[in-house]
Amino acid sequence: MSGRRDVLHVGIDLGTSRSSISASNGARHVVESYVGWPVDMVAKKVVKKPILFGREALENRPMLNLHRPLERGLIKEGSEKDEAAVRELLKYLISLSSPSEGQRVHAVVGVPAEALRVSRLHLRAAVKGVADALMIVSEPFAVAYGIDALLHTMIIDIGAGTTDFCVMNGRYPTEDDQRTLTSAGDSIDEQLATLIRNKHADVSFSIHMVREWKEKHSFVGQPDAPVSVMVPVSGRPTQIDITNEMKRACESLLAPVTETMLDLLSRVEPEYQERVRQNIILAGGGSQIPGLGKALEKALADVGGGRVRPITDPIFAGSNGGLAIALDAPAEDWEQLAA
Ligand SMILES: Nc1ncnc2c1ncn2[C@@H]1O[C@H](COP(=O)(O)OP(=O)(O)OP(=O)(O)O)[C@@H](O)[C@H]1O
Ligand SMILES: [Mg+2]
Repeated sequence: MSGRRDVLHVGIDLGTSRSSISASNGARHVVESYVGWPVDMVAKKVVKKPILFGREALENRPMLNLHRPLERGLIKEGSEKDEAAVRELLKYLISLSSPSEGQRVHAVVGVPAEALRVSRLHLRAAVKGVADALMIVSEPFAVAYGIDALLHTMIIDIGAGTTDFCVMNGRYPTEDDQRTLTSAGDSIDEQLATLIRNKHADVSFSIHMVREWKEKHSFVGQPDAPVSVMVPVSGRPTQIDITNEMKRACESLLAPVTETMLDLLSRVEPEYQERVRQNIILAGGGSQIPGLGKALEKALADVGGGRVRPITDPIFAGSNGGLAIALDAPAEDWEQLAA
């Protein structure tokens, strides 16, 4: 591992649904972006901890004030508890990466493309006291940097709260090279829940169950097999078929993602458009939806054809990219944070 020994360099992907950290000491950790505090004295006695994170927080949610503090990729504004939750989450991620005694922490944090200006202040406040130096970058740029896709490429990062686009021209991307949409994983979940409820009025399920069904059975185009899931109907476990609902919910991404992809492509210098079309990379959890790349390639056929491929490591692509930036960045690119 490279980097100065008195400094631990870390790349952090602060996501709506999952946050990951990659550190220069080799540590890699991912945690679902939930933070929960016990609601009262009884809950505290049951969970035996002052604060819970990730899956453990989700599983104990009836006893917790549960926060998912990064809705739409931003720190929810005006909520002190959400700001505290982001700080605790960052602190937790950094503690998982085990900095040694007295080691300074230099953190590159990835946020959605268009959120950069809005969230900078909130993020800086959250990182203060947790890291010693900070660099905020757009998430798709971090992904591009991590896989060395710096020239004539387009990254489409389909997360939970946002889908972030970035065209790489061999230099830091500008605002014109980037776009953010709120059609992403969470909006698929919401639509899927509504579609199922419309068809089966008597079934009961939570949004967490819907998300799990999607992560197991998502697809666009033709399904490999019919999708059926078990749900309680009037308290009795019952199998229901949700193939059409799954298809419609997942395909709701196609129109907005295609439109933005084609719009960004049309703004690339004409002589490079062909190369960018052949180098489109899907990142984020949504990149795992079977058939999505093919459907986008179909849309590209009308403008000369192109190639869309999913990234190989969707969980750590953003944080690995952040770490690569942290290790390469010159001193003047860092913002020093006084404790
Ligand atoms: N196999 C899958 N099929 C469909 N969706 C999936 C799959 N695996 C994960 N997802 C979805 O991907 C999303 C999470 O992706 P990711 O971890 O990239 O998001 P995030 O970084 O937390 O969010 P954001 O970037 O918007 O802040 C969730 O909506 C999750 O349900
Ligand atoms: Mg993300």
